[in-house]
Amino acid sequence: MPVIAVLGAQWGDEGKGKVVDQLAAEARMVIRFSGGDNAGHTVINAHGEFKLHLVPSGIFSQATCLIGNGVVINPARLIEEVDQLNKRGIDTSRLVISDRAHLVMPYHLLLDGLEEESRADRAIGTTKRGIGPAFTDKVARMGIRAGDLLDQKAFKYRLQSVLDYKNTILTRVYGVSPLSLEEIYGQYCQYGERLAPHIKETTTLIREALVRDDYILLEGAQGALLDPDFGTYPYTTSSSPLSGGACLGAGINPKQIDRILGVFKAYCTRVGSGPMPTELHDEVGQAIRERAHEYGTTTGRPRRCGWFDAVAAAFSSQINGFTGMVITRLDVLDTLPGLKICTGYRLNGKTIGYFPASIADLEKCQPIYEELPGWQTETSHIREFARLPAEARRYVNRLEELSGCPANIICVGPSREQTIQVRPVI
Ligand code: IMP
Repeated sequence: MPVIAVLGAQWGDEGKGKVVDQLAAEARMVIRFSGGDNAGHTVINAHGEFKLHLVPSGIFSQATCLIGNGVVINPARLIEEVDQLNKRGIDTSRLVISDRAHLVMPYHLLLDGLEEESRADRAIGTTKRGIGPAFTDKVARMGIRAGDLLDQKAFKYRLQSVLDYKNTILTRVYGVSPLSLEEIYGQYCQYGERLAPHIKETTTLIREALVRDDYILLEGAQGALLDPDFGTYPYTTSSSPLSGGACLGAGINPKQIDRILGVFKAYCTRVGSGPMPTELHDEVGQAIRERAHEYGTTTGRPRRCGWFDAVAAAFSSQINGFTGMVITRLDVLDTLPGLKICTGYRLNGKTIGYFPASIADLEKCQPIYEELPGWQTETSHIREFARLPAEARRYVNRLEELSGCPANIICVGPSREQTIQVRPVI
């Protein structure tokens, strides 16, 4: 059975939760491999509507759900999420947390807010979940990992040395009160006791699953254009949402991934600051936002909406190696008389077909559009590709051509059954 990565192909919020929930019905293991509780994966199935931030979207199936080493975990938020799921009758006993996953600590949350404030009009627009500071500490070798909670004495020793440093920054740079070692220690020991049964060495579990030839899903968070290397840096997140990030964040080697699915919305959205060449500031953008209820799952912020950017899509496909695309929210475009797809950019009087590294250049890029007729017919009840209006099929075919990969799945609504299987994923 295959290992399939399900990845955000744009700026996040593409609908990965729905796709993973659906594919997980057959899977034996689902691994979240990046980000933290900045993610908000919406799942609507027979159990109801759920907004998951850390728990993998496979939790409704029989699959083992693993939070990989590449995720940063706020234990308070994870416990809250598990409690909410249990209250609604969802079994979370199959949840496994990598002992190598780093923890979001109270100073990370504080520093995320303070750093954003100090950036003033250049703020990134982070989710303020402490994600950037937690990944900063991981790389600076100052992080505290889930496995550290299992040895309270060693944890206290480590926390003390890190907190001494953090309190110096908090008091001397930002002029705020220091944090209490005893308070954080006490709180995190409680979290540790609660989460201990789930914290495990996960590479062994994954190796055993691979030996059994289990069907494994790798669940991405955020999207390729928020990648710190290839996204619109510095307006990005802090961990890699790419297929390469899936290898690192789960502990799977590149040869073991069989399929890489890029999840694209049928248009583009972005939340937070940073360039977005096809952003619409008019009534069409507003209409898309309201029809699709484009407001952040984690922060509630209105999402910026725009036409499908095929330059960015081809770039995302190239750096991820997509074997197929999932196109979500096609039904959102049902009411529009005409559609536009960005096929190139005008930059300093020249036409370019690549996604520039420089945000100053990207901000200057004027989209070159190809116009296609709309279909102005409801599609949310359609379950077969051949039954879509001809204009909708043409639109999908054009997205496939320009992005360089075939469509496997099209979503025409939020629930599991509002799905068109174009080509089998496996
Ligand atoms: P951070 O990940 O909270 O540091 O935020 C950095 C940037 O990534 C901001 O522009 C956020 O809005 C964006 N971002 C982070 N997580 C998500 C997500 O799950 N969906 C969409 N945007 C996100």
